[in-house]
Amino acid sequence: MEKKNIDWSSIGFGYIKTDKRYVSNYKNGAWDEGTLTDDANVVLSECAGVLQYAQTVFEGLKAYTTEDGRIVCFRPDLNASRMADSAKRLEMPAFPEDRFVKAVEETVRANAAYVPPYGSGATLYIRPYMFGSNPVIGVKPADEYQFRMFCTPVGPYFKGGAKPITIKPITIRVSDFDRAAPHGTGHIKAGLNYAMSLHAIVTAHQEGYDENMYLDAATRTKVEETGGANFIFVTKDGTVVTPKSNSILPSITRRSLMVVAEKYLGLKVEHREVYFDEVKDFAECGLCGTAAVISPVGKIVDHGKEICFPSGMEKMGPVIQKLYDTLTGIQMGRIEAPEGWIKEIKVD
Ligand code: PLP
Ligand code: COI
Repeated sequence: MEKKNIDWSSIGFGYIKTDKRYVSNYKNGAWDEGTLTDDANVVLSECAGVLQYAQTVFEGLKAYTTEDGRIVCFRPDLNASRMADSAKRLEMPAFPEDRFVKAVEETVRANAAYVPPYGSGATLYIRPYMFGSNPVIGVKPADEYQFRMFCTPVGPYFKGGAKPITIKPITIRVSDFDRAAPHGTGHIKAGLNYAMSLHAIVTAHQEGYDENMYLDAATRTKVEETGGANFIFVTKDGTVVTPKSNSILPSITRRSLMVVAEKYLGLKVEHREVYFDEVKDFAECGLCGTAAVISPVGKIVDHGKEICFPSGMEKMGPVIQKLYDTLTGIQMGRIEAPEGWIKEIKVD
């Protein structure tokens, strides 16, 4: 199959329209059989539930070309189950998890010409989402929904560099805004969590920061996450620490990295509450997520007070680098994956 003529190594994290997308509609209590379509537009009632009360959830995962030329994706079953959790929290019908994984296969296969080649530094980002589609004016859940899945080739999320080798550490500020309330929706992937982060990210960028560190809304003493990724820290004696909270999105990358750290690299891992006061004592810091992969953090600024990580100002610290190499090695087929982590998508 011939690849599209795209300058893979220079693309950023943006939308490039591909050939096919998957659509399924929910009506009268059931999902229809679903289909691939060429139509990239969504036509909706002016009163659709999603437009009035933001009833929408989404996911994000990637497909990769392996070293030996296969197309694979990474743990799509976990995206399927997290999307079902998100849907339930917003009173939406879950899209069946087995059908979610099949839709990933179909969508990627139909757009195989857009899966960036091995070694290009780009990957195919897959965006499943669903929303309330029928008119809703009193505050209540919709009765009809649309599930869609499109994909787009992407480069790095942070502008540091185009290829892994040139990844530059990013700078983060401690935000004065909260991302998620205790007992709120921070643990699910709802569009509303991102809408409320837009002002914080725009002002962070205006002030020269790449992202916001959100603290727990109740006490403002504990580290939560950024707008689009979880934190990982490394202590001076090499323990990998990740923040635990009910209002953090349970990152699939973070959960995978904890296994990689323990089982592949023999490191100690701790998933626990992390107080902001401890952050200055860590040796390394990174952001992890599907879009972020593992992006090293060089500096965190708390209202003018700078925390600079001893390793990581110029390049990735040594432990973060090993985590990055092992995780991306598994995703690109250079390193054997744990059972069930890699789903191959056969293309004729
Ligand atoms: N946290 C937030 C708020 C996110 O949007 C994402 C991205 O999906 C993540 C963390 C990372 O999650 P994952 O590793 O499953 O992509
Ligand atoms: C992802 O990593 O898949 C996300 O949804 C994060 C977003 C900031 C692009």
